[in-house]
Amino acid sequence: MNQVEAEKRIETLRSLLEEYGHQYYVLDNPVVSDAEYDRLMQELISLEKQYPDLVTDDSPSMRVGGKPLPHFEKVQHEVPMLSLSNAFNEQELRDFDRRIRQGLEKDHVSYSCELKIDGLAVSLTYEKGKFVRGATRGDGTIGEDITNNLKTVRSIPMRLKETVDLEVRGEAFMPKASFESLNSAKKEAGEEPFANPRNAAAGSLRQLDPKIAAKRNLDIFLYAIGQIKEVKIDSHTEALNYLSKLGFKTNREQKHCGSIEEVLDYIQSWQEKRADLNYDIDGIVIKVDVLKQQERLGFTAKSPRWAIAYKFPAEEVITKLEGIELSIGRTGVVTPTALLSPVTVAGTVVKRASLHNEDLIRQKDIKIGDTVVIKKAGDIIPEVVNVLTDQRTGEEIEFTMPTNCPECESDLVRLEGEVALRCINPKCPAQIREGLIHFVSRNAMNIDGLGEKVIAQLFDKGLVRDVADLYQLNREDLLNLERMGEKSVDNLLNAVEASKENSLERLLFGLGIRFVGAKAAKTLAAHFEIIDELQKATEEELTAINEIGEKMANSIVRYFSKPEVTQLITELQRLGVNTSYKGVKRAEQTVTDSFFADKTVVLTGKLEQLTREEAKTKLEELGAKVTGSVSKNTDLVIAGEAAGSKLDKAEKLGIEVWDEQRLVDEFKNVEQ
Ligand code: IVH
Repeated sequence: MNQVEAEKRIETLRSLLEEYGHQYYVLDNPVVSDAEYDRLMQELISLEKQYPDLVTDDSPSMRVGGKPLPHFEKVQHEVPMLSLSNAFNEQELRDFDRRIRQGLEKDHVSYSCELKIDGLAVSLTYEKGKFVRGATRGDGTIGEDITNNLKTVRSIPMRLKETVDLEVRGEAFMPKASFESLNSAKKEAGEEPFANPRNAAAGSLRQLDPKIAAKRNLDIFLYAIGQIKEVKIDSHTEALNYLSKLGFKTNREQKHCGSIEEVLDYIQSWQEKRADLNYDIDGIVIKVDVLKQQERLGFTAKSPRWAIAYKFPAEEVITKLEGIELSIGRTGVVTPTALLSPVTVAGTVVKRASLHNEDLIRQKDIKIGDTVVIKKAGDIIPEVVNVLTDQRTGEEIEFTMPTNCPECESDLVRLEGEVALRCINPKCPAQIREGLIHFVSRNAMNIDGLGEKVIAQLFDKGLVRDVADLYQLNREDLLNLERMGEKSVDNLLNAVEASKENSLERLLFGLGIRFVGAKAAKTLAAHFEIIDELQKATEEELTAINEIGEKMANSIVRYFSKPEVTQLITELQRLGVNTSYKGVKRAEQTVTDSFFADKTVVLTGKLEQLTREEAKTKLEELGAKVTGSVSKNTDLVIAGEAAGSKLDKAEKLGIEVWDEQRLVDEFKNVEQ
C-alpha cells in the first residue's frame, strides 16, 4: 500500500470506527461484533505506526490513553460554568414557578425537566467538528485541561457529524456497575475503595496518566450548549435534539412539561424509579425551555434565574442499633459510635454512625437494641435520625457512659464548658496510639505507609511506645507484621528516613501540643527557627507573636516544661530528626488561581485525614475565608464525620457540601 492508499484507508477506518463507536456507546445499539471492531482498530493502529505523519489527534486510536502529563494546564471558560440554585420541596418549586411567571409577565411557560446526573461537570470544545479540548468546571471561570482523559470516554465523539465550532457541557459519570467492579478490584488489591461513583469519576478524571482513566469505563451525558456559532436554536429541547444529531450522548429521560403540576409528577415518578437506573442521580433539573425567555430572566451572581435543581431528600432506612462502642481520641475525648445491623443507604453499606456525645444519646433517647431510622447527611455521613420508640419490646438497654476510661481505667472527666468526657491520663494507650497516628499523618511528618493499622500493630506488640521509637524500627520486626512484604517494608523505612529532613513546623505540629494546629506550628517554626529557642520561650514572648493567644502560649510553655518532653526532643535529635526551620516552599499556584480563592468555607464534623486546623490553614493559604457558621454567604461546607446542625443548615440553604476525601483530593490537585 502506498502513502495515498494508506491515507484513504486510514480515513475509511476512522469513519467506520467513529460510527460503530457512536452506535455502541452513544445509542446503545451495537451494529458490528466486538471482534470486528477490534480488528478494524488494530488495522488502524498498525497503519498509523507505519505512517506516523498521518496520525491526527482526533483519531479513534488516541482513545487508549496517551502519555502521562506533568500537571494539568488551566483553561479559562469564555462563558462561565455556573451552578444551579436548589429546591428541596414542593413549595420551593411552586415559588420558583411563580417567580418565573412573574418575571415573564404571564407569558406561557414550559419547562425542560432532566435527571440531575451525579458526576462532575465538564466542558468540551470542538473546532470545525473536531474535539480539541475538554476541561473541568473548576471554580466556574477557570478549570483544568483534562482533554487526554476525556478522550478515553468512548461516548465523547472525536468528530461531530457537522463541521461546527461549539462548546458543550455535560456531566461525566461512572456507571454503577463499573463503580462496583472497580471497588471490588481495589479492595482485592488492599486499596482504599471510592466512597461513591461521583468520587470515582472525579478521581479518574483527575489522574495525570490517561491510561488510568481509560480503564475506568466513564460515560457522559451532554446537557447544554455553552457557545455555538451560526446555528439557530430556539429552545433547550431543540438544543438537546441538535446535540444528539451531532453525535453526542444526551439523556433520553428528558421531558418537556407544560406546567408545574407536570414537573411535580415527573419528579415524583423519578423519586420512585431512581434506583433502577444504572447511574446515580441526585435530583431533577428544571429549566425554562424557550431560550428567549431564559435571556429575559437572566442570571444572579451564582446561577441562572431560569433553572433550578430539585434535590431528592436523603434516603432514610430503618435498622437495629446493636451496640455502642467507645473510642478515645488523641486528646482523650471519648466518642460513642452506634454499631448498626448493616444496611445499604444511598448506595453504600452502613454499619456505624457517630453518636457524638452522651448528651446526644439522651436527647434522642437512644437505647441499645432500639430500632432506629438512619440517613446519610448530605448523602455522605451516616447519622441516627431518631428512634422508633413504638417498636420497643422492653428488652432495650439504657446506655450509660462509663466513669472510667475503657482503655486505661483512669477516671473520665468532663471539663468545664465541654460536652465531651475525657480521659486525662497522659499515659493512656489509646491516646498514645492516636498521637502516633497523628505524628505520621500527611500534614505532620507525612510518613507514607504507616497507616492506622500498622501503627496499631507496632504499638500493640510493644515495638513503638513513643514517636522516637519510629526512628528505631528494624526490618525484621516490620517483616513480621501482617500484610508487610519486603517492598512495603523498604518503602516504609525510606519514608521514615525521609521524614527526618522535614522542616520544624511538621515536627511541632506532629507532637500534638494542645491548641497548636498546622498554621500555628508554622508561625512558631518561622519565628524561633530552632526548637531549642521555642523550648525556652516564655508566655510573654509567645503572646507577643501575632496569632498566638494566651491559651496556646500557656499550653506550649506547659508542654515544654515537662522533663519527658525535653528527653523526647533530645532523643529525636540524637536519631537525626531535623529540629530547625527550613523555610517554606511557596505554593506554586497563586492564590487567585485556586478553586478556593475568595470562597467562604465552613468546616464541620470530625475530619479523619486532616485536623480542622490543617484544613483551615490550607484553605486559607489557597485564598478561602474559613468561618464558623453557615449562612447564605457560605459557598462550601466540608462535612466530616458526625457533622450535625451545620450540615443540615447547608442542605436547607442548598450550599455545596463536600466530604473530606473530596477536599483532600482537591488539595492534592493543587499540589500537583
Ligand atoms: S444544567 C447553568 N443539567 O448539576 C447551569 N446540570 O448545580 C447548568 N448537573 O454543575 C447546569 N445534571 O454539574 C444541568 N441535566 C443537567 C444536570 C446538571 C447534572 C450538574 C452540573 C451542575 C450542577 C448544578
